[in-house]
Order: sequence, then C-alpha cells, then structure tokens
Amino acid sequence: MSNWIDVAAAADCELGQTLEVVAAKRMVAIYHTKDGYFATDGMCAHQGGPIGQGELCGNIVTCPWHGWQYDVTTGKHQLSSIHLDCFPVKVEEGRILVDVPVED
Ligand code: FES
Repeated sequence: MSNWIDVAAAADCELGQTLEVVAAKRMVAIYHTKDGYFATDGMCAHQGGPIGQGELCGNIVTCPWHGWQYDVTTGKHQLSSIHLDCFPVKVEEGRILVDVPVED
C-alpha cells in the first residue's frame, strides 16, 4: 500500500541539490538530478552519516563524513554490493512526495 508523504517544496531541492527530510520517522535523502527526483535512506550505510547533506555530482552522491559514494537512482554503493533503501518520489503541484512505508 502506498504511503505518499509531502516532505518539501520542489523549489527547496533544485537541480543538482540534495535535501534531508524526515518521513514516517525515518531520515530520507532527496536528490534532484537531470534524470529527475530520487530518494534513499538518509543514513549512510557506513556509520550513519547524513547522506542527504552530501554533495551530488550527476547521479552520484558523496557522504559528507567519509566519502562513501552511492548511485542515487539505485542506492548502490559504488565499490561494493551494499545499497541504501530507495523510495518512490513524485512532484505534484510544486511539492515533493515520497512513498515511505510506515514501520511498526
Ligand atoms: S558515514 Fe558515510 S562514509 Fe562514513
């Protein structure tokens, strides 16, 4: 079942930017690339760094703590099989919505 959550204005995440939000009690990272908007878990798989504060280059985000890099379209770490959870994203009427499941 979908659980679309309004997390931000689209204007708050312009092309080439990342955004850190909270949705369904989870930190979520939003990315705006030339291929559209994407969302992953907001905590880096290394030591929980704020990946939503990372630098975005194309579709690759770099964690601000120790430099792990992920493809934001798949959540896949660039040098291993580790990956971040990914969430569907859409923009409606200037708002960013993410489909984040509610955890019990
Ligand atoms: S916490 Fe992200 S690279 Fe270490």
